Amino acid sequence: MSDTPAMTEAEAANRLMRLAKEIARHDRLYHDRDAPEISDADYDALVRENRALEDAFPQLVRADSPSRRLGAAPTSALAKVPHAKAMLSLDNAFADEEVAEFVARVRRFLSLPAEAEVVLTAEPKIDGLSCSLRYEDGALVLAATRGDGAVGEDVTPNVRTIADIPQAIDRPGVIEVRGEVYMSKADFAALNARQEAAGGKIFANPRNAAAGSLRQKDAGVTAARPLRFLAHGWGELDAPLGTTQAEAMATIAALGIPVSDLLKRCVTLDDALAHYRAIEAARAELPFDIDGVVYKVDRLDWQERLGQVARAPRWGLAHKFPAEQAETEVVGIDIQVGRTGKLTPVGRLKPVGVGGVIVSNVTLHNRDEIARLGLRVGDRVRIQRAGDVIPQVVENLTRDAPRAPFVFPDHCPECGSEAVAEEGEVDVRCTGGLICPAQRFERLRHFASRGAMDIDGLGEKSIAEFLSLGWLHGPADIWRLKAHRDKLVGREGWQAVSVDKLLAAIDVRTGFDPARFLFGLGIRHVGIVTAKDLLKAFGTVEALEAAARAEDGAAQLSAVEGVGPVVAEALVDFFHEPHNREELADLLALARPAAFVSSARETAWTGKTIVFTGTLETMSRDEAKAQAERLGARAAGSVSAKTDLVVAGPGAGSKLKKAEELGVRVATEAEWARIVAES
Ligand code: IVH
Repeated sequence: MSDTPAMTEAEAANRLMRLAKEIARHDRLYHDRDAPEISDADYDALVRENRALEDAFPQLVRADSPSRRLGAAPTSALAKVPHAKAMLSLDNAFADEEVAEFVARVRRFLSLPAEAEVVLTAEPKIDGLSCSLRYEDGALVLAATRGDGAVGEDVTPNVRTIADIPQAIDRPGVIEVRGEVYMSKADFAALNARQEAAGGKIFANPRNAAAGSLRQKDAGVTAARPLRFLAHGWGELDAPLGTTQAEAMATIAALGIPVSDLLKRCVTLDDALAHYRAIEAARAELPFDIDGVVYKVDRLDWQERLGQVARAPRWGLAHKFPAEQAETEVVGIDIQVGRTGKLTPVGRLKPVGVGGVIVSNVTLHNRDEIARLGLRVGDRVRIQRAGDVIPQVVENLTRDAPRAPFVFPDHCPECGSEAVAEEGEVDVRCTGGLICPAQRFERLRHFASRGAMDIDGLGEKSIAEFLSLGWLHGPADIWRLKAHRDKLVGREGWQAVSVDKLLAAIDVRTGFDPARFLFGLGIRHVGIVTAKDLLKAFGTVEALEAAARAEDGAAQLSAVEGVGPVVAEALVDFFHEPHNREELADLLALARPAAFVSSARETAWTGKTIVFTGTLETMSRDEAKAQAERLGARAAGSVSAKTDLVVAGPGAGSKLKKAEELGVRVATEAEWARIVAES
């Protein structure tokens, strides 16, 4: 779909690294915190860009690529449970042509003749959160959220409070029914009204309300929330549910588990697209939020053969609805200052309803976006909410009206330091560094946050309080808070118990995970994935610092897999700043992060590179590549000295020749099949 930008390999590596970081961050916001910051459409665009780059540079696909991960690993207080079978995600499509392309891909993969019908089921894509229900000999024994696809969270007691879900079914053996836990639009509105009256958390949309209600340690909270369930698939099974998707879903419905009554078996592509239009037309009247239609190949033997690629099955597709839009007026433009000093403009709107939600803020991203829109206070704009989150301005409807232009500040609104954009960068940043209160606050917040050091009890509110008391300047001061223990006890909201709990939470982070520590430092472009890559290579933060300060620092860092020149430069800059070094030395002495231990599991083919060339006779090229990936290997497009194996079928030409010249091992398709069977 997306165009592959003309990029060098180094640029692509760098971009992929940044994408991994960004996608992981949004995964965490969405799955762990139920608080997404970007729209589904923007998230999808990041995932697509990642995939396009990986297709163009297969040698850069990392073991921890976002395309191989599913959502975020759960980090909440709920117990973790491995899924007997991975819980997958779906590829997205927006245009009818992409659906046609999906069917064509299925045909090609299965080597079906062009005239063969690919029967699909089509059903609403419910905007909730997926949940797997495990029944053993008729009893509900386990309910788990998706988590990262491999490991979910145990929500069994919570799910037992959902009336739609039977505690017992009439079926022997093991059956895992998977589906969506959701909240109806009416129940969501009523819940938010109650929450508002009680001063509780207001949920952004029904999906977040459902997630927040299900993922509770106290199932009593879940019981008080009106959750519903619709099945859309299954996991582990002792006995098949049918030979087609439609049949299997009917079996699930017959067990007393709700299945959408809009699920339809569509014989042709046109039938499927017509059903999409029908569901779209019914959307506003449906009692729950949906964001598209899901198609699945009906024949289960075909689903089996199609298998999956990375995080999504080849037999399924989500056809998303276009974003919902509305018109309103911009009544103000505010500037927020982030952790890295980035000045982000936020548009304040005359409140307007978009797809059932009242919107009063839009993100304007950066200075260029305001310029692109020619946006000024007083302009009328068309905004859109794609999916569920922060809306965006699509178009300025009055850009020709005579009005004073918006002047982007050249000084930080928080500390008055100069604000500049570096060459080639769109973002304007405050140059105040740690003298800027906004940056200091954001850095501390990031350091203590769940994804980084995860210090329980050190949230926004306490950080703001300790900053104003002058107890916190840099992160090292977190370990010095114990000196203020007695002064803190008795302040509003603090008792001896809560103070000691906070101090203990800080204490347990001494000697903690070095990757989270490094990520917590908030060095530009260094996300948790890069932090791990760096520590895998250098072992400790101290060794990383030494490398970054060496004469060939940038080269040493760029040599690390997953680290591009931009990241290397950011690290060199960070470690050359005397102030950072001082603060880091102070912090290392107190926090003493552990040395890095890799958790990667080794198999015979992990990390090996395989090239397929020539015609394969018993499988398609994609199927062969998928097999290689299942063995932990990388399927590359071209042969080099780094190639470990070339699988050559009839008609193999230059790649085979090159492999022979380089002395790379060559196998026939039959030999490959044996490798797969034996690995
Ligand atoms: S099929 C392997 N069917 O959408 C197939 N998913 O974007 C994955 N979802 O994780 C599930 N409605 O949580 C399927 N009718 C439906 C769905 C549906 C909502 C969710 C599900 C999935 C996500 C993928």
